[in-house]
Amino acid sequence: MTSRPTVALLGTGIMGLPMAANLLAAGLTVRVWNRTVEKARPLAEQGAEVFATPAEAVAGAEIVVTMLAEGQAVQDTFDAASLPPGVLWIQMSTVGVDWTDKLAAAAEKAGVAFVDAPVLGTKQPAEQGKLVVLAAGSEELRERCAPVFDAVGGRTLWVGPVGTATRLKLVANAWVLALTNATAESVGLAQALGVDPNLFLEAIKGGSLDVPYAHLKGAAMVAGEFPPAFPARLAAKDARLVLEAAGDTVDLSGTAATLGHLEAAVEAGYGDEDMAALYRAVVPGSR
Ligand SMILES: NC(=O)c1ccc[n+]([C@@H]2O[C@H](COP(=O)([O-])OP(=O)(O)OC[C@H]3O[C@@H](n4cnc5c(N)ncnc54)[C@H](OP(=O)(O)O)[C@@H]3O)[C@@H](O)[C@H]2O)c1
Repeated sequence: MTSRPTVALLGTGIMGLPMAANLLAAGLTVRVWNRTVEKARPLAEQGAEVFATPAEAVAGAEIVVTMLAEGQAVQDTFDAASLPPGVLWIQMSTVGVDWTDKLAAAAEKAGVAFVDAPVLGTKQPAEQGKLVVLAAGSEELRERCAPVFDAVGGRTLWVGPVGTATRLKLVANAWVLALTNATAESVGLAQALGVDPNLFLEAIKGGSLDVPYAHLKGAAMVAGEFPPAFPARLAAKDARLVLEAAGDTVDLSGTAATLGHLEAAVEAGYGDEDMAALYRAVVPGSR
C-alpha cells in the first residue's frame, strides 16, 4: 500500500462526485463507476478513469469506496464488483445498522477488509473536502484509510468496532432531522400568525437558541426554493433507519413526525428536492 493508493469510488451522486474530485486533487489515482454513467463523466476531465461496470472500476484498486443511496444498492454493487481478497472496502453510504452488519459479513466472507465510515456534512462540505468522517473498524486499517479520509474530510473520528460509526451517524441524523422539522414548524407558525419568518431567524441569531442550520434551511423555506443538498427521499430513508434501529427502546415521536412530513413531501413529488422541502408538508398551503 502506497501513501497514494489507487481508489475505486462507486457512486458519483451528490456526495460521491465531489468526493472523487477531492481524491483526485489529493493526487490519488481514481477509478469511478456510476449506474448512470453520464454523471461520472465530468470526472474524466479531472483525471479519473470512468468505467461501465463496478467490476471494471475495482480492477487493480487497493481501496474501494462505496457512496450509494442505500443498503440494497451497496449490496448489489458489491456483488457485481467481485472484490478480490485483500482489498480495503470503505463503506461510506448511510445504510443503517442491519445493512452494515450484512455488508460486513459479506466482506468477511470475501476476505475483504471492511471499514464502516459514514459521513456528516452535505453537498457543500463534500465539495470543500470538509466532511466529518465517522470511522469504525480494526485499528490496523486506520493508516490505510488515511489518504482517503484526509482527502474527503476535514476531520475523522475513529469510534470503535464496525457498526459504531453507523450508530453514531443515526444519532447525528436524528438531530439533523429534528432541526429541519423544528425550523419548518417555527417558520410555518410565523407565517400562520402573520409574523415575518425572517424576524424569527433574526430573533434567535447569535444567542443560545441559534444554530447555523436554522438559517440555512430556514432561508430555503422562506424562499420556497429547495435545490437538493440532501434529497428528501434520502432523508426519509434515514428517518426510517433511525426508527428501525431504535425499535421500542426509546420514544422517537419527533423523528416519526418528521418522517411523516418527509413522506408527504416525497409522495407529492418533491423527493428530489432538499429535505427542507418537508416544509411543504408542514404548511400544505405552500405547495
Ligand atoms: N447528500 C447529503 O447531504 C448526504 C450527507 C451524508 C450522507 N449522505 C448519504 O450518502 C449516500 C449518497 O447520497 P447522495 O446525496 O450522493 O445521493 P444521490 O445523489 O441520490 O446518489 C445516490 C447514488 O446511488 C446510486 N444508486 C441508487 N440506487 C442504486 C442502485 N440500485 N444500484 C446502483 N446504484 C444506485 C445512484 O446512481 P444513479 O446516479 O444512477 O441514480 C447514485 O450514484 C446516501 O447513503 C446518503 O444517505 C448524503
